[in-house]
Amino acid sequence: MCLRVGVSKARDIARVHRLPMVGVHHMEAHALVARLTEKGVEFPFVVLLVSGGHNLLLLAQDVGQYTQLGTTVDDAIGEAYDKTARLLGLDLKRGGGPALEQLALEGNPKAFNFSVPMRQRQNCNFSYAGLKNQVRLAIAAKNINAEVPLSETDTEERRLRADMAASFQRVAVLHLEDRCRRALEWARKIDPSVACLVVSGGVASNQVVRSRLNYITQEVGLRLVCPPPRLCTDNGVMVAWAGVEHYNRGMTQPPPPIDEPLDAWLDLRPRWQLGEILEEGVADAHKRSLKKTGTHPSLTAQVRSYAEGNC
Ligand code: KG4
Ligand code: ZN
Repeated sequence: MCLRVGVSKARDIARVHRLPMVGVHHMEAHALVARLTEKGVEFPFVVLLVSGGHNLLLLAQDVGQYTQLGTTVDDAIGEAYDKTARLLGLDLKRGGGPALEQLALEGNPKAFNFSVPMRQRQNCNFSYAGLKNQVRLAIAAKNINAEVPLSETDTEERRLRADMAASFQRVAVLHLEDRCRRALEWARKIDPSVACLVVSGGVASNQVVRSRLNYITQEVGLRLVCPPPRLCTDNGVMVAWAGVEHYNRGMTQPPPPIDEPLDAWLDLRPRWQLGEILEEGVADAHKRSLKKTGTHPSLTAQVRSYAEGNC
């Protein structure tokens, strides 16, 4: 509904003022915003998008040209942070992720031995449903009652919850590290000139995520780029910037016909596939992407098709 309202308003403005239009893919906007805020982020680069709804690894080859290296086969990491924070009775006013990150500072990350997801799968896909379940069972086994807020617990109970938070976070981030290491390897095989890893989405503001990813990029001589936290979470600046990037390359649509009615049919794609899926990740991701993307070719396929003059 909100996509319909936004697109219809934008079309009306473009129609009245006879302005060209640029359709912006939400995930592309997350991927490109680092080129606004940081110097020297040239194509090709690898992008890790980590938010409440997405876990995505992409090779960004140009504006509108992406290869999907991996995606989540179930839940996203931000959702796992939020769920765990709720089960630990944390104050969710500023979001589950930041509250859990803060409590984890007090805990022992090795107190609980959760297993790292998908170690047997040699690809770049993610899964957080199993970890979420392991944590839920451990919380139940320790009789942690989410109804009792953290602020009302005694020292021992607070320590237990902090240990749980730190142990969850350690494994959640280890899974990111595994997948990013492999993604950098794959990306450099496709294009050896890859020089940086861009991390965006709400979870990119987490300091443990940043420092661990900084470590793995340094290991292979690459640069880690994180946009400032306020531009990592959903925001209008990133959408406007993606529009500028398309506009500068002439990738625009003409203004709608002057007589287009406000209730005209709109081609809305809330689950549009951004990039072409790399063969190695297809097996796990196949079911999910089919379910989510319907029959539309990806944005990348469409841009290539325009470039080749087929449309
Ligand atoms: O990108 P975003 O603002 O919105 C969408 O999900 O689209 O991301 C929000 C997610 C939430 O799940 C939130 O808990 C998580 O990002 N998040 C964090 C942190 N800050 C936000 N997760 C872990 N550590 C943080 N510091
Ligand atoms: Zn988003």
